[in-house]
Amino acid sequence: MKGTESDLIARAIALGEHGRRSASPNPWVGCVVVDAQGAIAGEGWHERPGTPHAEVHALAAAGDRARGGTAYVTLEPCAHQGRTPPCVDALIEAGVRRVVVALEDPDPRVAGRGVARLRAAETDVEVGPGAALARRALAPYLHHRRTGRAWCLVKTAMSLDARVAAADGSSLWITGTAARADAHRLRAESQAVVVGAGTALTDRPSLTARDVDPPVDHQPLRVLLDASGRVPAAGPLFDPTLAPTLVVTTDAAPSAAVDGWRAAGAKVETVPSAPGGVDLEATLDLLGRRDVLQAMVEGGPTLHGSLLAAGRADRLVAYVAPMTLGPRARAAFPRPSRVPRAGSGDARRRAPLAIALEHATRERRPSRVRARGRLTCSPGSSRSSGGSGRSTTARGERVSRSRPRRSSPTRAWATRSP
Ligand SMILES: NC(=O)c1ccc[n+]([C@@H]2O[C@H](COP(=O)([O-])OP(=O)(O)OC[C@H]3O[C@@H](n4cnc5c(N)ncnc54)[C@H](OP(=O)(O)O)[C@@H]3O)[C@@H](O)[C@H]2O)c1
Repeated sequence: MKGTESDLIARAIALGEHGRRSASPNPWVGCVVVDAQGAIAGEGWHERPGTPHAEVHALAAAGDRARGGTAYVTLEPCAHQGRTPPCVDALIEAGVRRVVVALEDPDPRVAGRGVARLRAAETDVEVGPGAALARRALAPYLHHRRTGRAWCLVKTAMSLDARVAAADGSSLWITGTAARADAHRLRAESQAVVVGAGTALTDRPSLTARDVDPPVDHQPLRVLLDASGRVPAAGPLFDPTLAPTLVVTTDAAPSAAVDGWRAAGAKVETVPSAPGGVDLEATLDLLGRRDVLQAMVEGGPTLHGSLLAAGRADRLVAYVAPMTLGPRARAAFPRPSRVPRAGSGDARRRAPLAIALEHATRERRPSRVRARGRLTCSPGSSRSSGGSGRSTTARGERVSRSRPRRSSPTRAWATRSP
């Protein structure tokens, strides 16, 4: 079988998806090797840490046909001895003439060295084809290696009028079976599932990944953000037979609460406090140090509002149900009026005026619509933004403000699916 260059790199990225659940903290990389005539000779992907990388699998499948051929790889091949030997050596030894790489690997152990080693061995290397696709597929990995922090996926289920719970805080059944199954799949792809104290008290969730195919071989870490020790160490969240639990708290939590969490088998970590509760940046740092690449945050609205306002949410997945709950119900993203300014202790800045979804997609499921996209913030009129006519992405990159790219959401969201 033959394919165009962009088909082949897209195929490599798609192969990498097989490892998305299991490869972490490594990247879920895929590789396609074509022979000198351009026919696919071997394919592979990285399944889990300590096992061969994608290139090694693809070269083994290609055998002698790799000589004089081309390897298409999602990410720059490694040049260092880790738990497995360097992939660049395998590519050079196999006699591959050309390597096409979608993205350079930001991991400091690689960062250009893989490309340099291949070029030094007179292998042609092209970097960049399929980069946008690969960046999207590997977003949690790339973010983790660049910042050391967990990449934050916020998941919410809301009504058409963006409400998520009854006014008295009691929980409401908003999603249907298809949305719940999809959320479990996202949990299975995450290394941590995070909730705030309010949701833990109201919903008593178990936060495990269930009914996914294939079943998970280990559950994501469950993370409770409880700054003041309000949540008792009881219920499914504190059942260690279901999954491990980490409580992130502050010095304000009474020692009795901390002792109770530990006695129930949970790990407890203390971070500085911040407006609203725990310092979110410190929390995402902490999770990053624990090899959490993707942290899926499942509410509730107070925590989501804090994350969005602080620019700490990287992707939003919203299940929008064809119902309205009215103005007295809880808003999906309440905005604190001021949020901490990054890296400046107690200094505050105004919360962003608008937060838009970039690269938004909408997927119609029976009776529900799932919208997702990368988050960008349009600054308010605060001095910090200076009304400069520019916006920042959730990560602080500057983008044009003239018209934040968005899906054309409301009419489509309002459409009842068949
Ligand atoms: N539809 C949905 O998708 C969905 C999802 C989840 C929950 N819910 C519903 O939402 C309701 C609960 O909402 P909620 O807003 O009370 O719950 P929440 O966001 O889960 O919890 C908020 C609490 O988390 C703690 N927290 C710690 N650090 C924080 C920070 N940096 N920023 C914000 N909060 C922080 C705070 O309590 P401490 O100060 O004590 O730490 C805060 O009061 C329930 O009715 C639940 O059913 C709906």
